[in-house]
Amino acid sequence: MSRILSAVAWPYANGPRHIGHVAGFGVPSDVFSRYQRMVGNDVLMVSGSDEHGTPILIAADEAGVTPQQLADTNHRLIIEDFLALGLSYDLYTRTTTRNHHQVVQEMFTGVHENGYFVEQTTTGAISPSTGRTLPDRYIEGTCPICGYDGARGDQCDNCGNQLDPADLIEPRSKINGETPEFIETQHFFLDLPALAEALGEWLDEREASGTWRPNVIRFSQNILKEIRPRAITRDIDWGIAVPLEGWRENPTKRLYVWFDAVIGYLSASIEWARRTGDPDAWRAWWNPAPDGEGEARSYYFMGKDNITFHSQIWPAELLAYDGLGSRGGTTHAYGRLSLPTEVVSSEFLTMEGRKFSSSKRVVIYVREMLERYQPDAFRYFVAAAGPESNDADFTWAEFVQRTNSELVAGWGNLVNRTATLVAKNFGEIPPAAELTEDDRAVLDLVAGAFDSVGDHIGRNRMRLAIQEAMRTVGEVNRYVSDSEPWKIKDDEVRLGTVLHVMAQCVADLNVVLSPFLPFSANAVDRVLGGAGDVQPMPRLEEVEDLDGGASYPIITGDYTTTRAWRREPVVVGTPIEKPAPVFRKLDPATVADELARLEA
Ligand code: MF3
Ligand code: ZN
Repeated sequence: MSRILSAVAWPYANGPRHIGHVAGFGVPSDVFSRYQRMVGNDVLMVSGSDEHGTPILIAADEAGVTPQQLADTNHRLIIEDFLALGLSYDLYTRTTTRNHHQVVQEMFTGVHENGYFVEQTTTGAISPSTGRTLPDRYIEGTCPICGYDGARGDQCDNCGNQLDPADLIEPRSKINGETPEFIETQHFFLDLPALAEALGEWLDEREASGTWRPNVIRFSQNILKEIRPRAITRDIDWGIAVPLEGWRENPTKRLYVWFDAVIGYLSASIEWARRTGDPDAWRAWWNPAPDGEGEARSYYFMGKDNITFHSQIWPAELLAYDGLGSRGGTTHAYGRLSLPTEVVSSEFLTMEGRKFSSSKRVVIYVREMLERYQPDAFRYFVAAAGPESNDADFTWAEFVQRTNSELVAGWGNLVNRTATLVAKNFGEIPPAAELTEDDRAVLDLVAGAFDSVGDHIGRNRMRLAIQEAMRTVGEVNRYVSDSEPWKIKDDEVRLGTVLHVMAQCVADLNVVLSPFLPFSANAVDRVLGGAGDVQPMPRLEEVEDLDGGASYPIITGDYTTTRAWRREPVVVGTPIEKPAPVFRKLDPATVADELARLEA
């Protein structure tokens, strides 16, 4: 048994999430975590809503509510969506908890004491018309490095470089187009150059492991060459206060949202531990084991625009907190903290060939998707055709086609005809008599899927994993066609044997597919006469803030009863009734209907 930290990107609570948001990190992290639990590993899966920063502030202004109200509304909506998707977090929390604020301030203090912050006077932008500070990402202009015209004040999405708004050529406000005014302001910078060597060593070691996706490790190595100090405070009145005399009291100085958000992985682990009643329980996932034995592994799931923050900023914060850069230093209250084992970044998803855009209505929200379609149909699409290591396109035509010809006609049909034949001929799972060569071959093939599919999931190759699982489904369907059980008359023993073999194959494949299709795995289990408890589901809980703040909803769950990743022999005599189909076939007219909605 090993410990696995599944660290899932924290979605901004500035609005409802569309399918592009969750395709990259939501479904893949859940498939991975469910699988790891099935093989007996001790998984801690954490995330939460990212509620600070300018995106929230701007959205709140537009809606005419406070940032906290906006975050409250969206945090709840996101939780409902994630539950409907079956994402099995041990804790999905938020960044406005008192616990998170304390953990972030402890990290700041540790890094500060170790000397990895430099204080600098910089130029900050304000809006001449309102006098308010203009956040970096709301300034647009031409990238001074690559010449791209749509660069943002914090980062150029074209070349990936971090920028300062004052670097932009012809800067303009994204809010109203005016030219920002630049003023002098004090800020803390994380001294990344003092951590570059330690970061480089860690990345080299990670590269040698050969397990990162090639573009992720390449990008991470690349940005190390351009490393420079990075501001971690902002002129903004929404966020976590800087825990220093003179700063704490200043209402317009706050920690940069990214400094605080990545700390969420740690603060959520601590919150989870505090809620279990063993406040130190998080340490087993974070503090390195003294002898390296039984060391926990951590997997961070995100979209590619987040790589910099997970392969540079977050590990730099951890190293600085522990005094492991060129300025030296000591450890603090949390002790040595482990750096990420893997940064599992996906690429981008587009929609009908275009970038997702809420304003242009090139979008489908998670909520709409799940109101109209089965969650497993969506999860299947993401696993089979999602943006795993290349950009991918969501089209309604492909969604309908995959649902109907792969899920319904492939897997659903196998389940259906197995249960129907058993119900009609025996009413219960019949015993197997002597096995033929074909019977044995198909049983062996299916048994082998546990290894091959599991190996792919363990390496986060979800597309290969589901392809392999569905190929096996196809082989079993072929076995059924070849065996023609519907033609076996007057030989109850042979008929029973074939149906027994089919039932065993379906039961096995149901386990293999269950990390991808957790809802239907439970339904298929019931079809086979089981209790429908292959994959436990997350639940919403309303909890009190641990330190006296406002109460809030979380996602949590008990996943200890998850089915094991191995063949369980079907039990002869288990009653089986004529089944209702598990998967819903989609009307081909769905494509035109949905496209019309997009254009509307
Ligand atoms: N809110 C950020 C985004 O949506 C992601 C934050 S991931 C974090 O891009 F955990 F690092 F915060
Ligand atoms: Zn650029």
